Amino acid sequence: MPGVAIALSKGRILDETLPLLARAGIVPTEDPEVSRKLVLPTNHAGVSLVVLRAQDVPTYVEYGAADLGVAGKDVLLEHGSGGLYQPLDLGIGRCRLVVATRRGFDWAGTVQRGARIRVASKYVRVAREHFADKGMHVDLIKLYGSMELAPLAGLADAIVDLVSSGGTLRANNLVEVEEIASISSRLIVNQAALKTKREQLMPLLEKLEAAVAK
Ligand code: PRP
Repeated sequence: MPGVAIALSKGRILDETLPLLARAGIVPTEDPEVSRKLVLPTNHAGVSLVVLRAQDVPTYVEYGAADLGVAGKDVLLEHGSGGLYQPLDLGIGRCRLVVATRRGFDWAGTVQRGARIRVASKYVRVAREHFADKGMHVDLIKLYGSMELAPLAGLADAIVDLVSSGGTLRANNLVEVEEIASISSRLIVNQAALKTKREQLMPLLEKLEAAVAK
């Protein structure tokens, strides 16, 4: 795309990203939550926003279809960070990636026995690496949402999911048994664009850095 395209994801992260962009002087001319447009112009003639599914943000930036993006560390861990420069922790979208089980499930005993367990997650790559590092044998089940249901429905012994307030775990009688990573949203930059569009990108990166520090 001509100019600079910034890839954002819908939902919770967008609510925190728009005020940050506004502090950096970038304001969309239409409300992304309301508009049906997928490419939103901003008050900067050369800067547009593209609003995507969270998991697609690193893909767009990796291939240079967007120059910049805002992506959760969880999404980046799952996607892999090849071709992506991550210059800035934006300090928004803070939460944790954890392993959780039904309350009363003997997690310590399961780990100690080396029992084979089933783990449901949308973060199958992160989960695979985490349990491989621990030397645990797990069967991974890929899900796309409502992970908390899996242990209740007998689909899995454990889940790997994000926890913010802990309210969803509590409401479903689940408990956190391990923390895998602490999560926040990162600015990601296409590495080639950093060279080819340096003059346009550097001032934006500086403004975003100042907006984070504010
Ligand atoms: C996330 C996560 C948990 C919930 C945790 O889901 O998957 O379900 O938030 O938040 P809490 O600890 O404050 O209760 P989200 O609402 O982002 O939707 P998703 O299932 O589409 O990921």
